[in-house]
Amino acid sequence: MGSPSVSTHRGLVHWQGLLLVVSLLNFWCLPATAQFAIVSTNVAEGKDVLLRLRNTPPDVISFLWYRGEGAKSNRKIASVSVPLRAFAKGPLYTGREIIYTQGPVLLKEVTMEDAGIYTVVAHLRNSKKEIGFGWLNVYQPVRRPTLQANSTTVTENKDSVVLTCNTNAVSTEWLFYGMNLQLSERKKLSEDRRSLTIDPVKREDAGYYQCEASNPISSAESWPLELHVQHE
Ligand SMILES: *[C@@H]1O[C@H](CO)[C@@H](O)[C@H](O)[C@H]1NC(C)=O
Repeated sequence: MGSPSVSTHRGLVHWQGLLLVVSLLNFWCLPATAQFAIVSTNVAEGKDVLLRLRNTPPDVISFLWYRGEGAKSNRKIASVSVPLRAFAKGPLYTGREIIYTQGPVLLKEVTMEDAGIYTVVAHLRNSKKEIGFGWLNVYQPVRRPTLQANSTTVTENKDSVVLTCNTNAVSTEWLFYGMNLQLSERKKLSEDRRSLTIDPVKREDAGYYQCEASNPISSAESWPLELHVQHE
């Protein structure tokens, strides 16, 4: 539920699986004094997201949620009284938030402006309180990148070629015939991984190239670009 944006893409299933393992390990391995916190979460713009809590103390009588770091009354989203099951709006309530009596918040139709740090305060029965923080990361789905070469017909052992992946995504991977491209002395990526230089071009470099752009919630591949290699 913390990841309503789960897509069926193979890479994302892996990512989500990893997150699940990490959160289970946290759940089992942390000592009893573990810090109360909001579980930092990635979500696609426009989706709903559940901001979960971890290490929630026992005997909470109310949860208060705030945007930003710290419990500033003018930044309050809403609060919920656990015994009364009563919900109270704060100045930053937008009508898209629901606080459950167990503590988490459901935030509907997330916007880019919702990204950032959140604070939760749990008031306890013994008149103590605990404060927790966490991040909400909001991403736009990655657009299909475009792949260009400075020439698509080159001469073996003589020419070099530069392929450029046009994307603003966080990460870029390269594919040759749909498989991960093997880099070598002749095939190098730029530091930002958005351009591939093959110098010099060999016969075996002929074929279909793609780049794949991704961020934590989505990925997209370019259309294939065919490189033709002529004899010397
Ligand atoms: C492509 O660009 C690189 C770098 O500017 C250059 O060295 C190379 O000769 C170019 N290749 C072709 C086939 O134009």
